[in-house]
Amino acid sequence: MKSIIVITGASSGFGALAARALAIAGHTVYASMRETTGRNAAQMEAAQEFAVENKVDLRTIELDVASQESADQAIKTIVEKGGRLDVVIHNAGHMVFGAAEAFTPEQLLQVYDINVLSTQRVNRAALPQLRKQIKWFSAMGRKH
Ligand SMILES: NC(=O)c1ccc[n+]([C@@H]2O[C@H](COP(=O)([O-])OP(=O)(O)OC[C@H]3O[C@@H](n4cnc5c(N)ncnc54)[C@H](OP(=O)(O)O)[C@@H]3O)[C@@H](O)[C@H]2O)c1
Repeated sequence: MKSIIVITGASSGFGALAARALAIAGHTVYASMRETTGRNAAQMEAAQEFAVENKVDLRTIELDVASQESADQAIKTIVEKGGRLDVVIHNAGHMVFGAAEAFTPEQLLQVYDINVLSTQRVNRAALPQLRKQIKWFSAMGRKH
């Protein structure tokens, strides 16, 4: 079954690769990323070119996981366009390396915010829609 999927942090690395692989597999994939009109404009274009070259449904959308407003807006747009959202992949994050004492508590707080709290921002935006869909599917199941 074809799903509508959003992946966070899909400007590079695993997120960009997963977005392409899932689009090739036939799904509608939103490669979400921050700063789509700035730093990540080239990454956005690359994803769009990939979609055209491979004739797949890979789309891009602005989503900064550090902002509740941005997460809300991205999920709202996806649902308005496709009528539903089936899968959320939390990928955005930072890995930090180094001696533990090299990091200030403020720096660790920033890492925690992106790696942990950001998933809650996206969940708060997406889960009400996913719950609605569970109700639809349960109702459909009861009819058949
Ligand atoms: N590579 C590994 O060995 C490994 C191991 C364990 C876990 N992980 C985790 O797997 C995930 C992907 O890793 P990766 O290796 O593919 O690293 P990566 O290429 O650095 O990808 C991380 C992505 O997160 C995005 N991101 C960061 N802050 C964001 C924000 N506020 N809003 C939206 N996107 C944001 C980055 O976007 P920008 O380009 O805009 O910064 C980037 O596209 C990360 O969460 C990482 O911690 C990786």
